[in-house]
Amino acid sequence: MEKITSLAKRRGFVYQSSEIYGGQNGAWDYGPLGVELKNRIAGAWWKEMTRLHDNIVGLDAAILMHPRTWEASGHVENFTDPLVDCKKCKSRFRADQIPQENLTAKKCPDCGGELTDTRKFNLMFKTHIGPAEDTASIIYLRPETAQGIYVNYKNIIQSNRMKIPFGIAQIGKAFRNEIVTKNFIFRTCEFEQMEMQYFVKPGTDEEWFAEWRKQRWAYYEKLGIKMDHLRWHQHGPDELAHYAKDAYDIEYLFPMGWRELEGVHNRTDYDLGRHTQFSGKDLQYIDQDNNNERYIPYIIETSAGLTRNLLMIFCDAYDEEQITPDKNSGSSEGAAGSADDWRTVLHFHPDLAPITVAILPLMKKDGLAEIAQDIRAELKEDYATDYDQSGAIGRRYRRQDEAGTPFCVTVDYQSKEDKTVTLRFRDSMEQVRVPRAELSARIRSEIKAYKRIK
Ligand code: GAP
Repeated sequence: MEKITSLAKRRGFVYQSSEIYGGQNGAWDYGPLGVELKNRIAGAWWKEMTRLHDNIVGLDAAILMHPRTWEASGHVENFTDPLVDCKKCKSRFRADQIPQENLTAKKCPDCGGELTDTRKFNLMFKTHIGPAEDTASIIYLRPETAQGIYVNYKNIIQSNRMKIPFGIAQIGKAFRNEIVTKNFIFRTCEFEQMEMQYFVKPGTDEEWFAEWRKQRWAYYEKLGIKMDHLRWHQHGPDELAHYAKDAYDIEYLFPMGWRELEGVHNRTDYDLGRHTQFSGKDLQYIDQDNNNERYIPYIIETSAGLTRNLLMIFCDAYDEEQITPDKNSGSSEGAAGSADDWRTVLHFHPDLAPITVAILPLMKKDGLAEIAQDIRAELKEDYATDYDQSGAIGRRYRRQDEAGTPFCVTVDYQSKEDKTVTLRFRDSMEQVRVPRAELSARIRSEIKAYKRIK
């Protein structure tokens, strides 16, 4: 994880928040490459969950919601972690994450000091709206995006004439006052979620629950994630959230071990039932195709962390490779025995890579830079491009490998003569000559046909 964190900072993916003040725990900033990667992951999820489904629509609800929302959802009462403090070193622990013998003996796992009794700690950030700081002005930062969907479900049925089964998808910020934030951006206080709520007829929920598990698994396969680094974990009775009848996590083998990446939950009619009760509004669905049958729909939820997905995709793509001479045939990359014999590379899927194509003139002089700039101007309409003319070509390839750029286009002297360029592939490091006029189409077809080889 140290290598990942340091590469992420060095190349401008992720920085510590407020670093010049010593950093802010639980918060991170996404730099130029990080914001592109995050946007692309969000875009891939959005396409998968909305564009590829005729019956799923999008929503962007406010972070600040009426405080009754969180009473209805059960978060005010139940969204807690068990907390213990050390009276001596003042460290804080989640009681469920320290050894049982320390809890029983009330002994701090760090310094051996005395631990407090376990108490419930609510994870919601509470603040005040308006100038008065009294109980009437309390408002929460949402701890999940899902509730914004539930309170809008009737609006969307009416405005978009949705018929069950249908889904609503949303990407947005969520906030949790996490007791322990570690492992880089894995668990943070401010993060982003990509959630989809699928409204179904009671009795069909188990079937849809199985279907969504299948679809979410297939999604990661499509992105070229190492499938032996993914597994399912079904929640036991002690792990189930207060709203869930059944829940499965997709776990990923992060550098610190297997951890939750995404949850698929059968939330039953819990949420809409509670919002009916707390708002006094009738949230039943009226099935006009079935004698106006009325019922509160069941909800199947797929809930993935966007920032956690970014960490997973980064870890999954990361590799250090020795460059052997035969891989280099015909190329000017690294010489045996030099530091360039090794490369750090991010094998991002081309749909996710922050830069899709880098254009590199072999030399700045003799008109090569002008041709390269020209090519960039043409390609930037369709692709995220970068331009780099400084340093040896081998080093420039290394820089693009580290950024996860799947294609490099090199302009050399031959380009001036026959209007061809070199197209270099990140994963295989192979190079082919392509007529400049065919470059854009060739890149397009390479992206479509992309299969991860490492
Ligand atoms: N709406 C259901 C829900 O929020 P969850 O299991 O608490 O369920 C869903 O969270 C996903 O959100 C997790 O699988 C994880 O990817 C992400 N997530 C949750 N807490 C997080 C945190 N503190 N930091 C980063 N991501 C988090």
